[in-house]
Amino acid sequence: MAPLLSPPALGLGTWKSSPGEVGEAVRAALELGYRHIDCASIYGNETEIGQALAGAFRDGVVQRDQLWITSKLWNDCHAPEDVRPALLRSLNALQLEQLDLYLIHWPVVHRHGVLMPEQAGDQIPLEQLPLSQTWSAMEALVEEGLVRQIGVSNCSATKLKGLLPSSRVRPAMNQVERHPWLQQNALLQFCRHEGIGVTAYSPLGSPSGPDQAPLLADPTITAIATTHGATPAQVLLAWGIATGTAVIPKSVRRDRLASNLAASQLQLSPEDLQQIAHLERGHRFVDGSFWELPGGPYNRTALWDEPA
Ligand SMILES: NC(=O)c1ccc[n+]([C@@H]2O[C@H](COP(=O)([O-])OP(=O)(O)OC[C@H]3O[C@@H](n4cnc5c(N)ncnc54)[C@H](OP(=O)(O)O)[C@@H]3O)[C@@H](O)[C@H]2O)c1
Repeated sequence: MAPLLSPPALGLGTWKSSPGEVGEAVRAALELGYRHIDCASIYGNETEIGQALAGAFRDGVVQRDQLWITSKLWNDCHAPEDVRPALLRSLNALQLEQLDLYLIHWPVVHRHGVLMPEQAGDQIPLEQLPLSQTWSAMEALVEEGLVRQIGVSNCSATKLKGLLPSSRVRPAMNQVERHPWLQQNALLQFCRHEGIGVTAYSPLGSPSGPDQAPLLADPTITAIATTHGATPAQVLLAWGIATGTAVIPKSVRRDRLASNLAASQLQLSPEDLQQIAHLERGHRFVDGSFWELPGGPYNRTALWDEPA
């Protein structure tokens, strides 16, 4: 079978899927029919995901070329000489010879070895180590055959515009937060025009408990869910797919993995889509405020290239 050309529209997110539970979640997802797994070295769980993938290949659940595996370069490895070693660490943990997609996780740079910055001195201004330098090292990974496609994450149209002229390999993907409260219409239009795919992260609003799931409780979403006999999560995911993005909901529960995957079968009506279009409120659940340190080079206005 030929490898996939683009990521299947519904994939599995793995942020906050703890070691000890992520392996079982990945195995269950593959058994249910997920064919796209979103990983990142900073999630601290790629070794267990690798074990689950190896087990699934060994047991004949799925073959490597039926799967789309994404991982991401962390912020402390933007220096060109750090890119290849970082990718090799992810490949080694995931027990893979090649990734389908490797993304620059954030347009934010840390000193090498600093996973989460605590003071301004832990950060390096993007102007000092621009994305274009990191991108050259990412391009070399494609040329070497270690990754099939490369892309970015959390990048505004402004930052992409800065990267495109000097790139020999064009970014295939921009992975950004997207859901009905943050529809990203201008960015989507720009990416579409440039032939860059968009993957929507936190498509359910990244809830961390029943009391912190405001998007899942949005009355328009719950009403549409009721008319279709669907769950609010399914409506959110079906909307992401219907509007042209891949969606990567995270779950470690088999029942939710199954019902989230079934969202790809849910057809929303033009009226549903029109109602959801009105829910835009520019709300970020992952707002980047954690990169703002006293006296540091990063702030939300510059990060998103829009007023905070
Ligand atoms: N590129 C980036 O910077 C970036 C940033 C954030 C996220 N991401 C990627 O995007 C993925 C998804 O985003 P996310 O994890 O922030 O948020 P999300 O997928 O919007 O939400 C995940 C949360 O929703 C719960 N959940 C899952 N299915 C549900 C359902 N059907 N009904 C109710 N609750 C449900 C999960 O809990 P249970 O596990 O208990 O089901 C988990 O707490 C991440 O895992 C990661 O792979 C990337």
